[in-house]
Amino acid sequence: MGFIDIQHARREAQRRLPRAVFDYLDGGAENERGLARNTDAFARICFRPRRLVDVSSIDTSVSLFGDRRPWPWPFVVAPTGLNGILWPDGDVALARAAADADIPFCLSTASTTTIEDVARRVDVDMWFQLYVVTRELADSLAERAWQAGCRVLILTTDVPVNGKRLRDLRSGFKVPFKPGPRLAFDALRHPAWLAGQLRHGLPELANMKMAGTPSLQTQAALMARRMDTSFDWQAFSRLRDSWRGRLIVKGIMRLDDARRCVELGADGVVLSNHGARQLDDVDSPLNVLLDDDPGVDATLFLDSGIRDAADAVKALSLGADAVMLGRALLYGLAARGETGAKDMIGMFKADLARTLTLLGCPSVRDLSRDFVATG
Ligand SMILES: Cc1cc2nc3c(=O)[nH]c(=O)nc-3n(C[C@H](O)[C@H](O)[C@H](O)COP(=O)(O)O)c2cc1C
Repeated sequence: MGFIDIQHARREAQRRLPRAVFDYLDGGAENERGLARNTDAFARICFRPRRLVDVSSIDTSVSLFGDRRPWPWPFVVAPTGLNGILWPDGDVALARAAADADIPFCLSTASTTTIEDVARRVDVDMWFQLYVVTRELADSLAERAWQAGCRVLILTTDVPVNGKRLRDLRSGFKVPFKPGPRLAFDALRHPAWLAGQLRHGLPELANMKMAGTPSLQTQAALMARRMDTSFDWQAFSRLRDSWRGRLIVKGIMRLDDARRCVELGADGVVLSNHGARQLDDVDSPLNVLLDDDPGVDATLFLDSGIRDAADAVKALSLGADAVMLGRALLYGLAARGETGAKDMIGMFKADLARTLTLLGCPSVRDLSRDFVATG
């Protein structure tokens, strides 16, 4: 049986993973008020359906970046690091699920399979997410991504330093992954997870291990998520000049910043608070859209707190062009691997079509503020 809702997958993931690993996936920064705020923001919005509309055919397709090619679904797989710790070969499993669903897949800088390897093994529209640890490393990763066929680069801007994640501090979960006695004991109680990890070997930040990547110090910095904190608008302009493909900026939480990204040449912006894993008392990106018409002349994505297709419809009604799915897919992946990720995307698709039908809105492109209210 496929998942009936996200909690179904989350519970299965919780059973299969050692607690420290589940907490890494599930947890947020500090007191996790932001985590709750993200989902509450969606819960506060309700629908105002139209009636007596012909909904015998539903169009879920969107166009991104003004391209002629429509994407059949308004979903993108969000970049997430360390997928291999959730499921062996997790990046490839997620990429395959995305390919199967015909949605873009974004590989993280902190992936456990190299850019080249995923590109070689999976025929998917792969985007690459860039963390700037040093400018030199960023340039070399961007070039590798381009050579591997990625035409969309997502610059993540909300990790100048790592958030304070209390669950990880309590469990001792760290990158690089070094299982201590507590985790070893926990792992023994989760034999299915352990068997997979033993078969595949402990996951590593694969992109950093490639020959030709800079010094060990740089690798250690990424592992500790110690970024280049001096990266600013000027540095962004430089990146814009050097990257030949589409450039998206992720982690934006203000419309003035979003507009500035576009003025400086961004093709898209992801309104995101990193799933509330960085700054706890940060607003929900949905509230940013609620405040004002975005007025951003580029493709607008949103993530953080999307737990079902109705949430996606709310974000799209308020002005997002597409949404990124983070934990929603990771719970599926952690529970059942590629099949679980596929099931979860399948559930989002079916629920999206049903929600549009019930809303009296036959096309995703017709969604507007008019369909929602704050309840
Ligand atoms: C386990 C995990 C790892 C993540 N790793 C990255 C990453 O490497 N790069 C990045 O830009 N965002 C990363 N994110 C943030 C996601 O891209 C996305 O913004 C977030 O998951 C959205 O929130 P949601 O999971 O509540 O929907 C990660 C999120 C999770 C849950």
